[in-house]
Amino acid sequence: MTTVSVDDAAIAEAKQLRDEFQRFLREYEFGMREVETKISILRDEFTHNHAYNPIEHVKSRLKSPDGIVEKVARKGIEPDFDTIRREITDIAGVRVTCSFVSDVYRLFELFTKQDDITVRLVKDYIAEPKPNGYRSLHVIVEVPVFLSTGPVPVPVEVQFRTIAMDFWASLEHKIHYKFAGRVPVHLVQSLTDAADAAGELDQRMERLHREAHEINQRVIEA
Ligand code: GTP
Ligand code: MG
Repeated sequence: MTTVSVDDAAIAEAKQLRDEFQRFLREYEFGMREVETKISILRDEFTHNHAYNPIEHVKSRLKSPDGIVEKVARKGIEPDFDTIRREITDIAGVRVTCSFVSDVYRLFELFTKQDDITVRLVKDYIAEPKPNGYRSLHVIVEVPVFLSTGPVPVPVEVQFRTIAMDFWASLEHKIHYKFAGRVPVHLVQSLTDAADAAGELDQRMERLHREAHEINQRVIEA
């Protein structure tokens, strides 16, 4: 039987790398929590002032270490912390699902205009849906996190969408997963049609909502 000896220095180095990686991920977790707090304050304030809650649900996730490694390989970038920090901006993600398209834009404005938020990139897939029909409003922001060593700006990807957009995206994601990316052509077409139908539903719901609001206003004023 052969014994494999692992030298102490290698173990110490591996442990140091693990600690560093955990510290690295923790910054993103804190950034995510800052964003969650901001969104939940907006929701509560809105509910109070306008007697109306524009947010259906909020979901957050941290990219897994495997997911980070996979993206480093896919993008062909150097696997060091500084490069990852610069190039991979969706390690922390927050998804805000709203009732109506107007709420999506309203929340986006209220969130991004806050003084401590720096907007790095906006992708408006509602104004310009992806060819497959995907819709959502994406923004990469930097939010300061105050650590014992000082403040660090942490990038967080925030996606704002409606329930209809969310419904579509979650089904599309499942189908992609099921077919390992090779979705039959007719299904791809059906999905794009469904995305357009969801877009039309959003417009109808928005009109209905506005109409109901106007009728209500008239009753109050009468
Ligand atoms: P990634 O490398 O996948 O993060 O894409 P990207 O850097 O080009 O950014 P993009 O803004 O296009 O997409 C980021 C995220 O939006 C994805 O991780 C998904 O959560 C979501 N997304 C984008 N396109 C689609 C789509 O076609 N279908 C679904 N279900 N989600 C999408
Ligand atoms: Mg992503």
